[in-house]
Amino acid sequence: MEQEKRGQWASSFGFIMATAGSAIGLGNLWKFPYLAGEHGGGAFVLIYLLIVVFVGFTIMLGEMSIGRATQRNAIGAYKALNSKFTWVGVIGVLSGFLILGFYNVVGGWVIKYIIQFLTGGVSGDPAVFFGGFVSSAVEPIIWAFVFAVATAFIVWRGIAGGIEKYSKVMMPTLFILLIIVMIRSVTLPGAGAGLEYYLKPDFSKLTPSAIVAALGQVFFSLSLGMGCMITYGSYLSKGENIEKDAFVVPLMDTSAALLAGFAILPAVFAFGYEPGAGPGLMFITLPAVFAEMPFGNIFGLLFFILVLFAALTSSISLLEVCNAYFIDEHKWSRTKATWVISGVIFILTILSSLAQGPLSGFLIFGKNFFDLFDYITSNILLPLGGLMMCIFIGYVWGVDKAAAEIMQNGKVAFKSRGFWTIAVKYIAPLAVGIVFLNMIGIIKF
Ligand code: PHE
Repeated sequence: MEQEKRGQWASSFGFIMATAGSAIGLGNLWKFPYLAGEHGGGAFVLIYLLIVVFVGFTIMLGEMSIGRATQRNAIGAYKALNSKFTWVGVIGVLSGFLILGFYNVVGGWVIKYIIQFLTGGVSGDPAVFFGGFVSSAVEPIIWAFVFAVATAFIVWRGIAGGIEKYSKVMMPTLFILLIIVMIRSVTLPGAGAGLEYYLKPDFSKLTPSAIVAALGQVFFSLSLGMGCMITYGSYLSKGENIEKDAFVVPLMDTSAALLAGFAILPAVFAFGYEPGAGPGLMFITLPAVFAEMPFGNIFGLLFFILVLFAALTSSISLLEVCNAYFIDEHKWSRTKATWVISGVIFILTILSSLAQGPLSGFLIFGKNFFDLFDYITSNILLPLGGLMMCIFIGYVWGVDKAAAEIMQNGKVAFKSRGFWTIAVKYIAPLAVGIVFLNMIGIIKF
């Protein structure tokens, strides 16, 4: 059979929507607001912004340049430029499998909550409801399956006809819904305490571990370190200004994170709840807040729809990283790649879902499957991938070759060239290297 033509984005706008869609996800919507609150509010936000500029922008532009230069998937791209670095692509694709393994589970929870708000809201004590639901054996797997099929369907439709087409609808809708929920939240009586908690800089809380948390969050939130931006960049035509894109996408991602903080924290405080951490904030505290708010079921529904859109535009990028490898390197058809890979990932999803209940006692390195997949990827594989990319561009492939790609061989200006060169060779690898050594326990702050 003749090899299918490699996909391409139809427009610059579509590429930006898809890329911002990958970045904006569950990481922004539930993780960022409580991290900011925990680590000194405005002070954390400030350090987060600095890291976005020095590390986020730098690695994003690096990955895009590798992708567009080679027009290959994460593994193929490194292989084409220097086969000693092929393994960096391999851990990227592996990360895609593992992250999607547990991402599907949370995506399923979100669908369950949408159905719940459509049919009258969360009944009884939200904590009991959530605990009972996620720990049951069958129901969460069914919703995860629905989420996985939706992801696979979009990816199966291709780059312009699937990923781009759906991102162009879901991303603007997400921002509109987020702004509506935010306006509701900040105008509630008593919202001020939440705003204060979120924004008042408390520099005494800005410990080294808060800085480490901020850096890890930048990585996960911007989809960096696993070749996602290599893969998306590989579908670009040579005429695209990737310097601009690597600026706009982190700007959108950061705006979404900040807006999520404004949407969630004031409401939580207005009704006298504690800004609890992690999944609890979104799946337990927020439903409690919506239950007490006038027209709460409508705002709850809007909120979980926007979370679903954010999660889907991220999950499709995770699947595409894996897909692109099998399509480019093993000449699989898109249809075969999409459904076979999704099937394999779903085995990890079943394990992650059961880890909340029946398999919760089955521990590897003291972690259940869900936490294990999360920990290995966020804390080890992504930082390692980002660090190696900086070393690769800075000292192997060379910043001049990357710059030539960014400038389309002199056709467009590269305004931040001086800054980017220093950042990719020194600042970003140093910052990420320190965090990485801290994560794996070699140095401890
Ligand atoms: N950036 C996504 C989020 O914030 C997660 C993600 C990580 C997606 C890595 C793709 C690659 O939820």
